[in-house]
Amino acid sequence: MSKLNSIPGEVAATSEIEIIAPNPSEYIPVNVPPFVDTNNQTDIIKLHLEAEPPQPLLFIGYKGTGKTLAFASVAYQLKIPIIQADLSENTKRGDLIGRFILRGSDVVYQLGILPSAILIANSVGKAILVLEELNALTPQMQKVLNQILDWRGQVHAPEIGKIFRLNKGCKLLIGATSNPSNYGGVFEINEDLRSRFATLWFDYPKKEDELKILHAYGSTDDNLNELLIRLAVETRKAVDRNEIEYALSPRDLVRFTQIMKIYTSKFTEEDALKKTLEIVVLGKYEDIDERQLIARRIESIFGLKIGEDLNDSENR
Ligand SMILES: Nc1ncnc2c1ncn2[C@@H]1O[C@H](COP(=O)(O)OP(=O)(O)OP(=O)(O)O)[C@@H](O)[C@H]1O
Ligand SMILES: [Mg+2]
Repeated sequence: MSKLNSIPGEVAATSEIEIIAPNPSEYIPVNVPPFVDTNNQTDIIKLHLEAEPPQPLLFIGYKGTGKTLAFASVAYQLKIPIIQADLSENTKRGDLIGRFILRGSDVVYQLGILPSAILIANSVGKAILVLEELNALTPQMQKVLNQILDWRGQVHAPEIGKIFRLNKGCKLLIGATSNPSNYGGVFEINEDLRSRFATLWFDYPKKEDELKILHAYGSTDDNLNELLIRLAVETRKAVDRNEIEYALSPRDLVRFTQIMKIYTSKFTEEDALKKTLEIVVLGKYEDIDERQLIARRIESIFGLKIGEDLNDSENR
C-alpha cells in the first residue's frame, strides 16, 4: 500500500487524515493458468471493458467452470491490473468503501475495494474489478455496490468527505461471479443489483471443449481424458436427477490429471489410476449410497473396482 498522493490523477485529500491507497503495479497479474475460451468469453469481457462507459458483467455458473479465470486471463493478456475481491457474508462496508485504522499512534483511512479500484483505473487507464461470489454478500452490502454500478459510477466516503470518480477516458470494468442460487449460495442477488449487470451463464463445457481444457493443462492421454469426461458428464446428470449432490467440474478433471501424473512417478499405471480415482473422485462423496453409485459408475467406465470398503458393506 502506498499513500494516496502517489497516485497520479487523484485529487488531494481534503481532510488531514492520511489515506492509504493501493499500489497499482501490484495488481497486474504475473502468472495466470491457460484459459480455454469455450463461448467467446474473453471477447465479451474485452467488449464490455472497451465500451463507453464499460458495462458491468456478471458470470453465473457452476463451480470450477472458469468464471474467475476468464477475467484474469483478459487482464493477463492486456497487462492491466485486476482487483479480485473475495466477498463473503462477513464483508462489511469498511471492506467495500474504507475504514479508519490505527497505524502506530496515528489514525489513517484505509480505502476499501471500490475506491481502490477507481484509483487503480485512474492511475493505469484501464483495470478490471471482479467481485467474486457476489451472492455471498448480505443484501445490505449488495446495496453499497449500487452507486459504482449505475450512471453515477462513483463511490462516496462521507466519513472523509470524498467522492471517488473515474477520470475522463479511464476505464474500469466491474465484473462479478456467482454460483446459481440453488447451489447452497448464501443469499440471492438483489433485483436492483442484478439489473445493473449484463449476465452471462457459464455452462459446463461441451465435450470437445473439456478435452481442450485437459490438453491445455498437459494431459495428452486422450483415452484417459475421454473416460474422465464421461464420468464427469454422468455425475452432472446424476445431480440433475437428485441422485448425488456433487458434480465433477472441469477443475476436478484438471486436478485429476495433475495428481495422476504425480502418482505415476511412484506407482504402476493401474495403481496410480485407482488411487487417483479414490482420492480425487470417490473422496468427494460421504454418503454411502452416493459412494456406491460412484464406485459402480467407475467400475463400468474404467473397468476398475475401487473402494473395497463399499463392497464389504454391500455384502454385509
Ligand atoms: N474454460 C477453461 N479453461 C481453462 N481451464 C478451465 C476452464 N474451466 C475450468 N478450468 C479449470 O478449472 C479451474 C478453475 O477455474 P475458475 O477458478 O475460474 O472456476 P470458477 O468458475 O471461478 O469456480 P468457482 O465457482 O468455484 O469460483 C482452472 O484453474 C482450470 O483448471
Ligand atoms: Mg471463481
